[in-house]
Amino acid sequence: MTVTQHAPGGEATHLTDADVVVLGAGAAGLMCAIAAGARGRRVLVLDHANKVGKKILMSGGGRCNFTNTGTTPANFLSVNPHFCKSALARYTPADFIAMVERHGIAYHEKELGQLFCDESSKQIVRMLLDEAAAVGAQVRTHCAIDAVEPVGERHFRLRTSQGTLDCGALVVATGGLSIPSMGASGFGYQLARQFGHEVLATRAGLVPLTLSGRPLERLQDLAGLSLQVEAGCNGASFRNAMLVTHRGLSGPAILQISSYWQPGDDLRIDLLPGEDANAWLAARQRARGEAELRTVLGDVLPRRFAQRLCEAWLPSRPMKQYTPAQLREVAATLAAWPVVPSGTEGYRTAEVTLGGVDTAGLSSSTMMSRHVPGLHFIGEVVDVTGWLGGYNFQWAWASGHAAGQAV
Ligand code: FDA
Repeated sequence: MTVTQHAPGGEATHLTDADVVVLGAGAAGLMCAIAAGARGRRVLVLDHANKVGKKILMSGGGRCNFTNTGTTPANFLSVNPHFCKSALARYTPADFIAMVERHGIAYHEKELGQLFCDESSKQIVRMLLDEAAAVGAQVRTHCAIDAVEPVGERHFRLRTSQGTLDCGALVVATGGLSIPSMGASGFGYQLARQFGHEVLATRAGLVPLTLSGRPLERLQDLAGLSLQVEAGCNGASFRNAMLVTHRGLSGPAILQISSYWQPGDDLRIDLLPGEDANAWLAARQRARGEAELRTVLGDVLPRRFAQRLCEAWLPSRPMKQYTPAQLREVAATLAAWPVVPSGTEGYRTAEVTLGGVDTAGLSSSTMMSRHVPGLHFIGEVVDVTGWLGGYNFQWAWASGHAAGQAV
């Protein structure tokens, strides 16, 4: 395969020959190139952006939460929850950690198995590029793909801003729709549809939720305030911090549950996670009968939040005045504070895109299309979405590796 680049002077330049073209030099695309290159395949990775791995660079607050040591298939959302199993089993967090250690990159566990670089996510991009170079894989940026045409069995023709080229294996690793300013595009979905694949409805995931009307008015001036909660919706729940924002709610517990939330659903937020609210209130009533509910709650919740809760959602009076039935009602609100989000902040701030290329059309061991031999889809473009905490990169590494073993 040959790429022809038209240099500024108008002269055509032959760039390289390759067996495999990977579209997208992000986490999944680079890992695929490394795995395929290690098998002696000649690989070319094309990206329309001006630099590779932009999402890796911005991830984890600049320190890249590159995996999660506790990764299991249960940490992923997909219409087919079994699809991710094979790839995750064949390329594990330990495999990626071994690569990180081989490159002398220092890292630490922040919480819940989440591994971050001590210094910078730039080290992860550097590592991937070094690994790719070591196996002879070539990476080209500033390369827009104008069209992909099937020419015959395992034969694709690509028209790009740098020329036309043919290849036998094409791997689509163009990611999801989140953060359009970082190069995200719907190109992978477009290609999937072009080749007869089903694309499941996409929506923003791991994203702050917005409130409107009374709930927003009641909480808005508490923006910046954070508390430990357990947020639940549609059978899932996450215990972590919740942050009040100017537009609604955010923080890890809310980002996690946002992936399970659908418009119209309400969230149930346990404001005393790990406590039996009724028993806790009864104990407080015995110990501090003269104290008002707002004061008692202010001992375990941020004081301003406790105050607002008692102004807007709960009747506040001295603890001794509550009957057992009234106390049970207060306990029920504290254990499942109902919040109805009006929406999400959308792809502008979402970490991931839910939905995407339907796994029913792909092989779970090779990520190859079931009806177009040689065509593979990997990473976030596929309908597999991880929780917050390094799981999405682990899926990118694992699915990239699976395709790299097969192309
Ligand atoms: P990715 O988006 O990484 O790469 C796709 C590539 O394709 C890009 O380089 C893009 O330029 C290119 N491309 C797109 N369209 C193209 C076209 N038409 N032609 C050519 N190239 C094209 N996950 C995690 O596990 N830990 C973390 O700490 C974080 N943190 C985080 C922070 C923020 C702000 C975001 C937005 C996301 C995260 N994530 C995360 C999620 C993680 O970044 C994401 O799941 C992976 O990067 C997905 O890897 P992919 O390779 O599939 O897509």
